Amino acid sequence: RIDPCRLVDLSEHADDRGRLTVVQPGRDVGFEVRRAFYIHDIPDGAERGAHGHRRERQLIIAVHGGFEVVAYDGFRRASFVLDNPSLGLYVGPMVWCEMTGFAPGSVGLVLASQEYDEADYCRDYDEFCEDARILAA
Ligand code: TYD
Repeated sequence: RIDPCRLVDLSEHADDRGRLTVVQPGRDVGFEVRRAFYIHDIPDGAERGAHGHRRERQLIIAVHGGFEVVAYDGFRRASFVLDNPSLGLYVGPMVWCEMTGFAPGSVGLVLASQEYDEADYCRDYDEFCEDARILAA
């Protein structure tokens, strides 16, 4: 387990009609959601992510299917399996995330604290590691 990441149990309302899961800022997620995007139609064996964010915080949810998120904070690595729509993975700033092992038909929803800004992305791994260690020092 690494500090900037944690699994979050979301509020689920299940009855004989199915399940309904809620994500409410201030309760299920500790930031205002400014943007949502989802990844879907992912080919077999494809990997996504492989970047970090300087400021953005995210909650990642496998709303259908499942996948693995490997997170690295510049010091430690942790792997999380998301395979339940009522489970979220909170990812804080300066965490390198790689998403792999997508089950066929998976849909990954990401709720984010920022509007899209390419300048917020760290896409170079070596640069990310260097910056993460400087920030932690
Ligand atoms: P990318 O960061 O490669 O996706 P992933 O996080 O799954 O690895 O983004 C794919 C493309 O989509 C890239 O050209 C940037 C664009 N994009 C937006 O325009 N807005 C967004 O909010 C996001 C997340 C991506």
